[in-house]
Amino acid sequence: MDFLDQSADDAALALLAAEGDAGTLGRWKLETPAFVDLLEKSESPVLALRQFGVMCRRSGDQQRAIAAFLAALSLAPDEVWLWRDLAAAYQQMSRTALAVVCARKALAMDATHAATWLQYAILVDGMGPAERAEHAFLRALALDPGLTDASFGLGLLYLKTFRFEEAAVRLGDIVTRGDADAIVYVSLGNAQYTAARFAESAEAYARASEYAPLEGHSLRKFARARTFAAIIVGNIEQALADYPALAGAEIESLDQITRDGFSLFSAYGYPDAAVAVGEWRLSRDPDDPVQQYLNNAVAGKPIDEVPAAYVETYFDSFAAGFDDKLVGVLGYQVPRDLAGLVGGQRSTFSHMLDLGCGTGLAAEFLARLGDRLVGVDLSAQMLAQAAKRGTYHALTKCEAVDFLDSQPGAFDLVFAADLLIYFGRLDELIAAVARATVQGGIFAASIESARERDFEVLPSGRFAQAEAYLAALTAPHFEIVEQKPTVLRLEAGVAVKGVLFVLRRR
Ligand SMILES: C[S@@+](CC[C@H](N)C(=O)[O-])C[C@H]1O[C@@H](n2cnc3c(N)ncnc32)[C@H](O)[C@@H]1O
Repeated sequence: MDFLDQSADDAALALLAAEGDAGTLGRWKLETPAFVDLLEKSESPVLALRQFGVMCRRSGDQQRAIAAFLAALSLAPDEVWLWRDLAAAYQQMSRTALAVVCARKALAMDATHAATWLQYAILVDGMGPAERAEHAFLRALALDPGLTDASFGLGLLYLKTFRFEEAAVRLGDIVTRGDADAIVYVSLGNAQYTAARFAESAEAYARASEYAPLEGHSLRKFARARTFAAIIVGNIEQALADYPALAGAEIESLDQITRDGFSLFSAYGYPDAAVAVGEWRLSRDPDDPVQQYLNNAVAGKPIDEVPAAYVETYFDSFAAGFDDKLVGVLGYQVPRDLAGLVGGQRSTFSHMLDLGCGTGLAAEFLARLGDRLVGVDLSAQMLAQAAKRGTYHALTKCEAVDFLDSQPGAFDLVFAADLLIYFGRLDELIAAVARATVQGGIFAASIESARERDFEVLPSGRFAQAEAYLAALTAPHFEIVEQKPTVLRLEAGVAVKGVLFVLRRR
């Protein structure tokens, strides 16, 4: 691997020059009886310094341990175990950057020491790219497959980076080897839950509870996992009746449990369970437009448009947490990327429309392209969030096609990030955009890619559309100036593929 290159040596030399103290040995010879004693018994000053350093480290005097290892290294810079010792001492003092330098140097000198790879992995985990820590954990395991801490560290790294299946495999390995303890079982329960394997998750939590009663987050997840597993095998009434006793002090409302269960079952390929939960929810609130729509979507009923009542209710309830969830958790960057493509084509606009503006995630990027920006959306709560940004000249609560029809030839930029997924058929929308856009104006939009048909409803209730479908509908009014494949966001831990379009009005 490339990172153990010349720079490992350079960094180590710079560290010795900066941290070392040439007078240490002489001073200790005069002032420190314990060291003098060691010096007399050891074969060499280097060995005496190392032993003294190890003694100091054990007694908690890390500062002095570091001074001893540095003094030894100034005499014997090629002794690999001294770099390892120094790395450990810096690590104990939380001087992580220096510990990394020392561990790297030790690995550059001897790349066959599993414990040093593990130490290095733990040090760089959370610093910089995850691949670096992953590589180091894997090297440690290749050298010593039984290194439980490396399997555990790698499992947690995969959990943090949303690679839940791999996390479950690594943590499961520890169980298979018979090395698991409560924390491994809890982590495995979490990984299996997040990978939507609820029976396995409940089982892992149950094993953890043999060590100590579950509480807090673990108890909450265990009760959910057991309940969801029971719903999947077909017994929703019994599962929901059993839930309160399982959750104990961590009980959540059945509304919350079934709402989350419905989303998970839809997203992770348990359509029968999703339908059962959807029907259960609708039997309690038959007028709920969100549930009505989603039940049809998940049951695969033919749908070619999204009802406005669903969009409005859904986004009103989602508005407050939208930015954190979409950008923070799901990695959504379409507003930035699409605005970047637009800016690459043309840098100034005089009348810009952010269609389906939501909370205004595109505002800061669009504001760089022109002075006048207006936003339109069906959801009052999303608009309220957008208003807080203070970037829009006007924000209007209106259905997109209705708004466009009221503004013929008004815009030189119509920007629609993640809006078309809330339209099935696109013919009316495209025609309305064409009417509202001046000649030479730009229409920018993202779509989620459909695999088989012009447009298809997904279990999430959103629509995917085919590139060729959008191209055919827009052809009479627009020419395509850019068309770029992209990842829209993560869904159920998987990258959702889409396309960004920039079109010019003929
Ligand atoms: C996924 S959000 C995207 C928001 C914003 N464009 C962004 O990229 O962050 C979709 C938005 O489109 C709005 N929307 C969906 N269908 C609409 C329609 N027919 N008319 C107006 N707004 C609509 C929703 O209310 C929601 O705010």
